[in-house]
Amino acid sequence: MSKRIVSGMRPTGKLHLGHYHGVLSNWRELQRSYECFFFVADWHSLTTEYASTAGIRESIYEMVLDWLAFGIDPEKSVIFEQSRVPQHAELNLILSMITPVSWLERNPTYKEMQENLTTKDLSTMGFLGYPVLMASDILVYKALQVPVGQDQLPHLEITREIARRFNYLYGEVFPEPAALLTETPKVLGLDGRKMSKSYNNAIFLGETAEETRKKLMGMVTDAERVYRKDPGEPDRCVAFTLHSLYVAEEKREEVVTACRGAQIGCVDCKKILAEAVVETLAPFRARREELAAQKGLVQDVLADGARKAEAVAKMTMEEVREALKL
Ligand code: TRP
Ligand code: SF4
Repeated sequence: MSKRIVSGMRPTGKLHLGHYHGVLSNWRELQRSYECFFFVADWHSLTTEYASTAGIRESIYEMVLDWLAFGIDPEKSVIFEQSRVPQHAELNLILSMITPVSWLERNPTYKEMQENLTTKDLSTMGFLGYPVLMASDILVYKALQVPVGQDQLPHLEITREIARRFNYLYGEVFPEPAALLTETPKVLGLDGRKMSKSYNNAIFLGETAEETRKKLMGMVTDAERVYRKDPGEPDRCVAFTLHSLYVAEEKREEVVTACRGAQIGCVDCKKILAEAVVETLAPFRARREELAAQKGLVQDVLADGARKAEAVAKMTMEEVREALKL
């Protein structure tokens, strides 16, 4: 059997360069050697967005369109929406019976988000149970590996603990999934903070070349370079972090020398960057438009994915019911 992996993304709408260099390029690569289940974690987004669901359908559509345009391939991977595979919820219910509340209360993300997201009431059962639902997403496919970012490691650890506890109580059903961590560059946004939709500093994959150019021209550079005649330092420059990802090495070395010698101004330097980014994204954007023009495509992909996912999830649930003598 080929190794199975599962990963989910909460529907946040259009994806940006941070997603691309983090999750998306990683997923695309994994499709080559694993049996992949990639899903939209729409129930997970309800844990914090339960009071504002109006835009969720649109967010799902835009995100899946980005997946497809960037090479997440329904011929190779099972692409689906969590809420269309009810077995996730059934397993969630069962796992919630055996998961001690103390494991969930000491989850670092739980504490952090409760402290930081003060505008929302997060003292719900669903929010506390976030890691149990995530464990269900993974275990219902008996995945061996889970590609996740560093921030999700505590959740994955809880998944492993839950799997162990289940196996101890009812017999060996679940493999303990391992994290598949890959080095990903930290992508900075226009203002120098981490790129994020909520910081309003992101370059979106699906935006137009014009929008991208305009945004990049406003990107923060080396804060210590005040005048054009001042020498700059690429290692201190926010925009240059993107040069490293998009501008060809030779050109980049020229920029470094010219910047340190004050032979190039930041405006011209960012023009070079903007052209490189726009050129790299052009084929993806064209593909995205092509796919967007195919009516019903995203819906069809998701419906087909849900069928395939459910077929696997159903078998696991039969084993689970059997193990519990239900
Ligand atoms: N919690 C993950 C995140 O916020 C999303 C997620 C939900 C997930 N279920 C999952 C990731 C299962 C991997 C496997 O990024
Ligand atoms: Fe950054 Fe380029 Fe300006 Fe140097 S010239 S500070 S690398 S934008």
